[in-house]
Amino acid sequence: MLRDRFMRLRDKEVKSGVWCVNGIMSIGYGMLQPSVIMAPSVSILPTAAEEATNGVAKLNIKEQVKQEQQKQDKGPSYPFYFPYFDVNEKFPPTEIFGMSSQIPSRRSRSLTHIMILEHTDVGLRADPKKPHLLHEGVTLKHLSPFLGTEVKGVQLSQLTKEGLDELALYTAERKVLVFRDQDFKDIGPDRQIEIARHFGPIQRHPTSGNVKGYPEFHVVYRDAENDRFREYIGGNRVSRTSWHSDVSYEKQPPSTTFFFILDLPEVGGDTLFASQVEAYNRLSPAFQQILHGLRAVHSAVPQAEFSRKRGGPVRREPVESVHPLVRVHPVTGEKALYINQGFTKSIVGLKEEESDTLLNFLFDHIAKGNDFQVRATYEAASVIVWDNRVTIHSATGDFDNKERRHAVRLTPQAEVPVPVKE
Ligand SMILES: [Fe+2]
Repeated sequence: MLRDRFMRLRDKEVKSGVWCVNGIMSIGYGMLQPSVIMAPSVSILPTAAEEATNGVAKLNIKEQVKQEQQKQDKGPSYPFYFPYFDVNEKFPPTEIFGMSSQIPSRRSRSLTHIMILEHTDVGLRADPKKPHLLHEGVTLKHLSPFLGTEVKGVQLSQLTKEGLDELALYTAERKVLVFRDQDFKDIGPDRQIEIARHFGPIQRHPTSGNVKGYPEFHVVYRDAENDRFREYIGGNRVSRTSWHSDVSYEKQPPSTTFFFILDLPEVGGDTLFASQVEAYNRLSPAFQQILHGLRAVHSAVPQAEFSRKRGGPVRREPVESVHPLVRVHPVTGEKALYINQGFTKSIVGLKEEESDTLLNFLFDHIAKGNDFQVRATYEAASVIVWDNRVTIHSATGDFDNKERRHAVRLTPQAEVPVPVKE
């Protein structure tokens, strides 16, 4: 049935364009024309060099194999999650959740007050020993002293409320968790959303591919016919590394983020993560002190402009938020740098050269910090959970552009970033 739906969608020729923050690529016009449809003919041609030097056509075996693979390609394994674009889809402006506006004052009905209710991180109520998550039979393999743990023996779909609370805490502590052997991709969209929603309201991406009827999903997709990621980050670069924290332009940026893989390349397509806590810790106390008082602008404008230019959706007008340059995690109390190359544009109150110099130093510091970075790898049934408040990440666009990589992100939002209180 899903395959039938996919084939119907394919024929619609929906025109769209978008950039996918997390993953390898974004989707362009006529995206519903995957390689299964567009596979080239199997005619085998000699390369120009062979013709020039030998005068005799030789089979380009490698190209033949690729074309045969494309011919045999049945399309995405999970067509239900094929990226969906509707340029007419619109969302209302995001309101700060937990805030009820225009509440009449007790003193005077003529006055109104804004009541901001704290977002409560579910990790705060977790048992620090995590008996519902790290029970007997669970094995842990740390990827670095500072972040990243591979977890086996936990089935995310089976976690109780207490287990999910402990997941929030453990994710905050380890920052990146790589779960193997998960059934998550097969439990259905409603249950997937239900689990992610335990951590906060799920962000609906303003420009990226989602799933029809399920705007909570952020779809990451690349195959032989679709490679817009390169275009977004610039096609004339020596590296595709692009460090960012997902949608940090939101007033309440995401926290415990889920990313599950549906199709993966034979090799490559990993995700790099860096600890923003350790990046902060490496700085001198004097420099840390300077950063504590600074705030930075995070902008959704370039992302929206890119999508609009391509005729893609802009489901709500792009926002710009001012966040503290150092934020405090509400559960662990750790301080973390909160800037990223993807969305942080300037530092409030500084002149342009001052802002650029400081930001570039920090971006460079984080990017070079291989001793507080990890490389998360994927297997067929992997789910990666990370705390988006204290990490940045980058896709690695290193795999053959004929291969398919298909993944889905669920992105619960959390508190308004908390500055350091001196
Ligand atoms: Fe991302």
